[in-house]
Amino acid sequence: MTDHPQIVLHDVNTTYEGANNPTLRDISLKIQKGEFVLVVGPNGAGKTTLLETINGIQKNTAGEIRVFNRSMKKNKNKIRKKVGYVIQSFEYDPFMPFLVKDVVMMGRTGKLGVLNFPRKKDWDLVWECLKLVGMSDFVKHPIGKLSGGQQQKIMIAYALVKEPDILLLDEPYSNLDLDSKLAMSSLFSELNQEKKITIIMVSHEIKQIPQGVTRVVFMKNGRIHFNGSITKFLESNLANDMKCFNWCRVGRFKLFNNGSLRSKSQNDIDWLLHGTCRLCRGGSRAIN
Ligand SMILES: Nc1ncnc2c1ncn2[C@@H]1O[C@H](COP(=O)(O)OP(=O)(O)OP(=O)(O)O)[C@@H](O)[C@H]1O
Ligand SMILES: [Mg+2]
Repeated sequence: MTDHPQIVLHDVNTTYEGANNPTLRDISLKIQKGEFVLVVGPNGAGKTTLLETINGIQKNTAGEIRVFNRSMKKNKNKIRKKVGYVIQSFEYDPFMPFLVKDVVMMGRTGKLGVLNFPRKKDWDLVWECLKLVGMSDFVKHPIGKLSGGQQQKIMIAYALVKEPDILLLDEPYSNLDLDSKLAMSSLFSELNQEKKITIIMVSHEIKQIPQGVTRVVFMKNGRIHFNGSITKFLESNLANDMKCFNWCRVGRFKLFNNGSLRSKSQNDIDWLLHGTCRLCRGGSRAIN
């Protein structure tokens, strides 16, 4: 842990051009180096806007943002060189001629500078990142000919090749099959725990909470309504709303795997193995 939090938002508002009201309202948030934060909340809550504001893509219209102990206002480009971002939605034109390896190398432009050609070490890194996301067999494929899930993995490699200190993931599982979700979930945990990359991940997929998630931020109507541990979140009233996220059904299982539920009552363990979820009022069966 450093003295200063790696990311600080102080009373931040973000208002889109032409909008009457701010989309993000009074956001105050501190994130330490090496944290793994999960951002949840309903559609339109402002989760993507939050990530874009932290990444300097959307300009905050009030308040202050500091990342790496530098002001976003004056150091946006410097900050962004060290932030990897996997955007929520994208689709490559099927006729786009770029090969996968070239698309991933584009993620390295900030490190290379515009006038420098990639060297062997840069290409090695591209290959390594493609391997990490299980796409090394597709190095020479045209990006537009890949499936949606495969393209999503390429976008993760694109973010990683930058060797980021902070990784922003906006619904990184949305196009992935179950095996791929599990594989990416393990990858994110590894990046966080072994490489100490700070991760902020937006997800509706509570089934795949990666190991190592330290905190949940719950957003609604542009505000943060909860910012604390997963256990505390589940104990809060807000957790009652989470049935729409399939939280209670599997979230508790993940918690148990993480060790966080060990101090909970036998009821929870019974629920986990045989029971019916109390939060869903009987709507979901627990997994076994
Ligand atoms: N570029 C934009 N211009 C104007 N309004 C926008 C823009 N992008 C998003 N908004 C509005 O900001 C609000 C928050 O959108 P945002 O994409 O941050 O929500 P979200 O929590 O990520 O939702 P979802 O779960 O659907 O991805 C929405 O009401 C949306 O219409
Ligand atoms: Mg979004």
